[in-house]
Amino acid sequence: MTTNVNTEKLSSARFATATDAFVEVFTASVDFDQRMASEDIQGSLAHAQMLCSIGVLTADELDAIQRGLQQIATEIANGTFQWSVKQEDVHMNIEARLTDLIGIAGKKLHTGRSRNDQVATDIRLYLRAEINLIIVQLHRLQVALLDLAEAHSDTIMPGFTHLQVAQPVTFGHHLMAWFEMLKRDHERLQDCTKRLNVMPLGAAALAGTSYPIDRHMTAALLGFSRPSANSLDSVSDRDFAIEFAAVGSIIMMHLSRFSEELILWSSAQFNFIEMPDAFCTGSSIMPQKKNPDVPELVRGKSGRVTGHLVSLLMLMKSQPLAYNKDNQEDKEPLFDTADTLNMCLRAFADMMPHIQPKKANMYNSAKQGFATATDLADYLVRKGMAFRDAHEAVGLAVRLGLSSQRDLSELSLAELQQFSSTISDDVFKVLSLEGSVASRQHIGGTAPDTVRKAIQTAREQLLSE
Ligand code: ARG
Repeated sequence: MTTNVNTEKLSSARFATATDAFVEVFTASVDFDQRMASEDIQGSLAHAQMLCSIGVLTADELDAIQRGLQQIATEIANGTFQWSVKQEDVHMNIEARLTDLIGIAGKKLHTGRSRNDQVATDIRLYLRAEINLIIVQLHRLQVALLDLAEAHSDTIMPGFTHLQVAQPVTFGHHLMAWFEMLKRDHERLQDCTKRLNVMPLGAAALAGTSYPIDRHMTAALLGFSRPSANSLDSVSDRDFAIEFAAVGSIIMMHLSRFSEELILWSSAQFNFIEMPDAFCTGSSIMPQKKNPDVPELVRGKSGRVTGHLVSLLMLMKSQPLAYNKDNQEDKEPLFDTADTLNMCLRAFADMMPHIQPKKANMYNSAKQGFATATDLADYLVRKGMAFRDAHEAVGLAVRLGLSSQRDLSELSLAELQQFSSTISDDVFKVLSLEGSVASRQHIGGTAPDTVRKAIQTAREQLLSE
C-alpha cells in the first residue's frame, strides 16, 4: 500500500499528492457551514440510533457516539472546538473530532450515509428552525399592526391611487391591508415547510445503500413528515431552498412597500406620522435632520433577498442529476435570506407600536383632495342620475372647488344645485369624510365598525394558529 500523503483528511487515501493549498481553501465550506453544526449533530444522532436498531452498530458503539457528539456540541457551544479547513466542511470536522474522541466507533458513524444526503438533511433541519423563528417575528408584527389598527379604526386619512388623493379611508383600514399581506406570507411559509419537511437521509451518495436501513425511524426521530421518495432527487433537490427564498423575497417586497409609505408619511411634505426617535438617526452635517433609517434600510435589504432568489435559481438551472459540488453555493444565500428576514421583521415589530399618527394632518389632507367626489356621484345616482352623467356633474363641481380653493363640502347648497337640481341639504352628510368612510360597511370596507370587526376576526385567527 502506498503511504497516504494526506493522512489528516478523511477522504484522501485515493490521492497520491496532497490537495493544492489554495484549492483546499477554495473548496472548503467550513467557514460558513459550521452554523449547521447542531443540525449535523442532530442528524448523526438519529442516524446512529437507527444503525444500532438494525444491528449495524452495537449498543456500546452507539453509546460512545452519543457521548462523543454531546461533548462536541459542548465544545462548539463553548467556542473551544477547533474548526479546520483541512477537514473541508462541518460534516468532516465533526466526524474527525468524534474519531479523535472515541476511536473506531467514530469511524463507523458514516456507514450507509454520504455527505450528500447528510448536507441535504442538515439544510432542511436548519431552515425548518429558521422558519419557525421568522414566523415568531412575523406574528409579533401582525399583533403590533392589529393593536395600532384598533387604536385608529376611526382615524381618517386620504386613501391614494397613483399617489394622488383618491377617497378617504381609515388609518386602521390601511394598516389592516398590511396585515393581510403578512397573513398570506405566513401561509406561504407554512406551505413551503410542507415540502421542506421531507427527509433525504438514506439516499446516501445518490443510489441509496445496501444496508437494511429504517428510514421511517430516522424520519420520525428528526421530526420529518416522511422519508423522501427518490434517492437521486433527495441529494440534488434544492427546490425547498428556492421556495424559501421566493417567500422571503415576497415578504421583503411587502416590508419594502411598508417602508416606502413610512418614509413618505414621515416627510415634512406628508407629515402624517412621527417616527420614533429610537428608530431614526441624525445627519453628520445637517443638524435639523431626523432620517427614517430603519425603513430605508429594510427597503434596501429587499434587493439582496431577491438577489439570493435569483442566485439559487441560477445555481440549480443547469445541474445534471444528482449531487454536484455547485450545491455548496446554496448556503450563503440561504443563511443571509434567513438572517435578513429575521432582522427586518424584528425591527418592524419593535418599531410599529411607537409610530404616532398625526391625526389632524391626515384629516386635513383627506379634506384637500376632493376625496368625497365619488360619494357625491353615488349620491346623484341614488337620486336617479346615470353614473356617467353623475361623474360629469361632479367633475364640474370639482372645477368650481378648485377655482375657488374650497372642498366640495365647503360649497353652498345653491352652488351645488347648479350641477343637479336633485341635490338637497342631506348632501352634506355624504360630502363629509366621516359620512364617506362610514358608508363603506360591506366586507372588506373601510367603515370604522367594519374595520373593528375585521380586527376582531384577525385576532381570533391569530390566536387559533
Ligand atoms: N460541503 C458540501 C456541501 O455543502 C457537502 C457535501 C459534499 N459532498 C461531496 N460529495 N463533495 O454541499
